[in-house]
Amino acid sequence: MKKWKWKRITVCLLPAVALLLLNGCGAPDTVQVATDNGFVPFEFVDPSTGELIGFDIDLINAVAEEAELNLNINTMDFDGLIAGIRTGRYDVGIAGITITEERGESIDFSDPYYDAGLILAVQADNQTISSEADLAGKRVGTRSGSTSERYLQEHHPEASITAFPGIVEAYMDLEAGRVDAVLYDLPNVMYYVQQDSKTNFKTVGEVLQGEQYGIAFPKGSPLVEPVNAALAVLRENGTYDRIYEKWFGEDSEDE
Ligand code: ARG
Repeated sequence: MKKWKWKRITVCLLPAVALLLLNGCGAPDTVQVATDNGFVPFEFVDPSTGELIGFDIDLINAVAEEAELNLNINTMDFDGLIAGIRTGRYDVGIAGITITEERGESIDFSDPYYDAGLILAVQADNQTISSEADLAGKRVGTRSGSTSERYLQEHHPEASITAFPGIVEAYMDLEAGRVDAVLYDLPNVMYYVQQDSKTNFKTVGEVLQGEQYGIAFPKGSPLVEPVNAALAVLRENGTYDRIYEKWFGEDSEDE
């Protein structure tokens, strides 16, 4: 009798223990998200409320809701972010991160969620730079660790490149005339060209390099699949378009 009772308790408890263990090995309970706070309009601090807002923030929250994940959002420097994902310190990175082959060697990416590219900005009255062909000998600012910095190193070693720790400093130097041009992501540059009343910039030349943003994960993360599935649902059910319109004011064209 006694023996039978123990057997029954063990039989009942085993699946529960197994479930607990499985849960521990699968997706973590609270997903640690890494982002930046200086990349308008993807992630930035609302000056009036001090709140972290932007396209990426809305998107990752919608993904979390769809995939039933609890998020904890951490902000840091963009340079530290990719390292933090690579080492598994954070589970998910979303920060307008361009999908590149090189990065893909050390981190995993979701399906692309935004089409971007690189563009040059100069002061509105600049007459000397009308495309990247005019960059030789010019002072060009960008952000350190970005695809723009890499592009400049590879294609314009004859320019004098300054990579700032934050892109806002590059724009300030452009405004002050300490650099002649800034190369950076098109949607971010467009914000300073069109919406920031403190700056008086124009873009010049073509989009220099087509890029796509992806959500980043440590290699082999179990979250890649559920996040991709959630992204697909959000594109399907109109949520993606609503978020896109909120931040870019027009329909996304990528479908
Ligand atoms: N797309 C560029 C890159 O991946 C710049 C991204 C900058 N993002 C940011 N949150 N500061 O290198």
